[in-house]
Amino acid sequence: MAASRGEFSSRFGFVMAAAGSAVGLGNIWGFPTQAASNGGAAFLLVYLVLAFTLAYPALMAELIIGRHAHANATRALRSLSSRPLVSRFGAFTGIFGLVVASLILSFYAIVAGWMIAFGLGSLAQLLGIESVASWSTGFSLPRNLLFMLLFMALTIGIISEGVHRGIERWSERLMPALLITLLLLMAYVLTLDGAMQGLRVYLLPDFHRALSPDLIIAALGAAFFSLSLGVGTMLIYGSYLPDRENLPLVGGMVTLVDIFIAVCAGFLILPAMYVAMHNGVEIFSPSGSLLSEDTLIFTVLPELFATMGVPGALVSIVFFFLMSIAALTSSISMLEAPVAYAIEEHGIERRKAAWFIGGIIALVSAGILLDFGTLFGLVVSLTTRYSQPLLGIILCIYAGWVMQRNALLQELKQGNPRAEHGLFWKIWPWYVRVVCPAIILAIFTRSILG
Ligand code: PHE
Repeated sequence: MAASRGEFSSRFGFVMAAAGSAVGLGNIWGFPTQAASNGGAAFLLVYLVLAFTLAYPALMAELIIGRHAHANATRALRSLSSRPLVSRFGAFTGIFGLVVASLILSFYAIVAGWMIAFGLGSLAQLLGIESVASWSTGFSLPRNLLFMLLFMALTIGIISEGVHRGIERWSERLMPALLITLLLLMAYVLTLDGAMQGLRVYLLPDFHRALSPDLIIAALGAAFFSLSLGVGTMLIYGSYLPDRENLPLVGGMVTLVDIFIAVCAGFLILPAMYVAMHNGVEIFSPSGSLLSEDTLIFTVLPELFATMGVPGALVSIVFFFLMSIAALTSSISMLEAPVAYAIEEHGIERRKAAWFIGGIIALVSAGILLDFGTLFGLVVSLTTRYSQPLLGIILCIYAGWVMQRNALLQELKQGNPRAEHGLFWKIWPWYVRVVCPAIILAIFTRSILG
């Protein structure tokens, strides 16, 4: 069975692909926007704590279950137990996960479409084609639809190609380029007037705010979203990992890369916001809340690029191109969840499954666009704030209670014969059993009860 499935051919390829899944709009659009609307540094602090203490252990649960089963989430969770109820609930969780992954993709494709549109807009501006430039950077239904469809077609195209030729090859090349661009932009923005005020907001926490339940649930959702957790993506990527890999190590690398990029994006976007404000752009309403959260970075960044003169147009093209790619390495992992399920459970051919499922998701996306004001925020918060952490709890419970301790250890030992004596084995098993589910549940209940 494993032989007929795709597999990553190198550790670098896997880390880049999993980091590619993790690093995306969540880091550069989601995290900085949330940080900006939740008090900057307070959000950063809570995000960091939750990412290391809850998201990393949950990521490990997914990678271990996935690699153990070498199968999609539904089959993997179903096969963990021989008790019918537990097994059926596992399969149900897998399906719920892939529905959430598909819904995430349906809003993700819209924002990713904006990235392409802004890249194209900058190109048009450089070439002096004003009408195209303003059409592709202005908010309109035809623009949104066109670029969403374009982005979905790219996602489907790559997924039709399979794991090695599609996912791995792309991630390896483009992820490093994204990181370098981000660092250069970050260095540049810090030299501009107003940037220091943004830096202060980002780095000096108001500890009072850090304890607000709203902030904590937002940070938890952001961490789970950013690490692509709960929806079976990481589980599937784990299932394509060769047995010789040391799981806690590669999982740790992916987590570090992901968090690092989110934090860097904060160093870019928050100062850029204050630079834009310094230049007269309105960002906050008189009551202090962000004016248009969803499109914040599309206001702030072009403003930043404009300060650079002609080179700004070039930087803008590069930046939005790389962002589109970062979004693509994430969106392919979302589409892979339902597609792998259709292939493995229903024997549907990869190409067909990719086009069919991708087509349905594009339709849902078009539906969201028709009533953007109401539906967009609703789908974002239902999927990322609530479903992802909830699914995370269930996956931790399956890794901690349903999967046998011995099987867990064997899985870890394959990549590290001394796993039994390591720190990970001393802490993680009970941690993922008790601490993770309890804390996530507590945060969850607290936020629902208000
Ligand atoms: N982690 C991705 C990002 O930060 C989003 C994602 C969520 C990807 C869920 C796959 C599954 O942009």
